[in-house]
Amino acid sequence: MTTAPISISQLQKSYRGKRGKKVEALRNLSITLVPGEVFGFLGPNGAGKSTTIKILMGLIRASAGEARIFGISSADPAARRRVGFLPENPAFYDFLTAREYLHFVGESFAMSSAAIQAESERVLKLLDLSSAAGRPIRGYSKGMVQRLGIAQTLLHDPDLYILDEPMSGLDPIGRALVKDIILDLKKAGKTVFFSTHVTADAERVCDRIGVIVDGVFQEERVVGELLREGIDGYFCRVRGLAAGILQSFGGVTCGDGICELFVPRDGYDSFASELLKNGGSFDLIEPRRRDVEEYFLALVRAKGEIRCA
Ligand SMILES: Nc1ncnc2c1ncn2[C@@H]1O[C@H](COP(=O)(O)OP(=O)(O)OP(=O)(O)O)[C@@H](O)[C@H]1O
Ligand SMILES: [Mg+2]
Repeated sequence: MTTAPISISQLQKSYRGKRGKKVEALRNLSITLVPGEVFGFLGPNGAGKSTTIKILMGLIRASAGEARIFGISSADPAARRRVGFLPENPAFYDFLTAREYLHFVGESFAMSSAAIQAESERVLKLLDLSSAAGRPIRGYSKGMVQRLGIAQTLLHDPDLYILDEPMSGLDPIGRALVKDIILDLKKAGKTVFFSTHVTADAERVCDRIGVIVDGVFQEERVVGELLREGIDGYFCRVRGLAAGILQSFGGVTCGDGICELFVPRDGYDSFASELLKNGGSFDLIEPRRRDVEEYFLALVRAKGEIRCA
């Protein structure tokens, strides 16, 4: 049996808040990742995403339960040898240039000088930082710092990526770039665990998503299944539809005998056979689905109602 890249079991974390008040940030969290998958860790602000990631990276200790990386306890630094990590708000030694910083990272992972040099240039180019790489980081914009944060995760070609909001602070081009990088990592057989509250990002790149609210894991879903199940009907553009059928579905005629209408999922088969039987045809069929955003909002709102009750 292969070892899970991440296995989290019954993890709990309580912080001491203001005036010694206890904050229960994680309550019995359990997640297991499959090698080679992209897992999106979704949750609203304050849900416990960064807390989980900090425990995985050995930056803070759990109050109870355990977190393992490739079977090794996350408290052991050896667990992180094959991990690329992007923290929530990356901050680097800003008197260094990006190239110098990457050199430092490469040495920390005991890479050879030749490998550091070659890989640094590769990741700088990938993240579109080559022209800025000789300048001190202190002069970088927020998005450039974020891109350097992604670049340093890739340097030692790790097997597992733990990324806390990787698209945060990036413009649309940067976001698309990072999504493509995640998809390429998946193609190369790597495992990616990333937190986000931007559901559209998760929808595009994740195999599975898990939702956490108020420190409690709600559920995990396969994204493909979620989207398939979420189809509630189809927008159709058709030709040659009899007026009677068109009216019964509330469609409109656009001219040239072309009609547009929404056909509910359970009425689709009978609609299609009726249309084709009468010599009509489809120009366009587009599923209307509940997306990850709607799924996420419904879960978070349901949780809010329970809390308010
Ligand atoms: N050092 C700390 N001391 C006290 N409470 C903390 C500390 N760090 C986090 N918390 C609390 O723990 C809870 C979870 O915080 P966490 O940073 O893990 O959330 P998050 O899901 O990453 O949120 P965001 O989307 O805003 O980044 C919050 O209620 C937060 O206020
Ligand atoms: Mg966070």
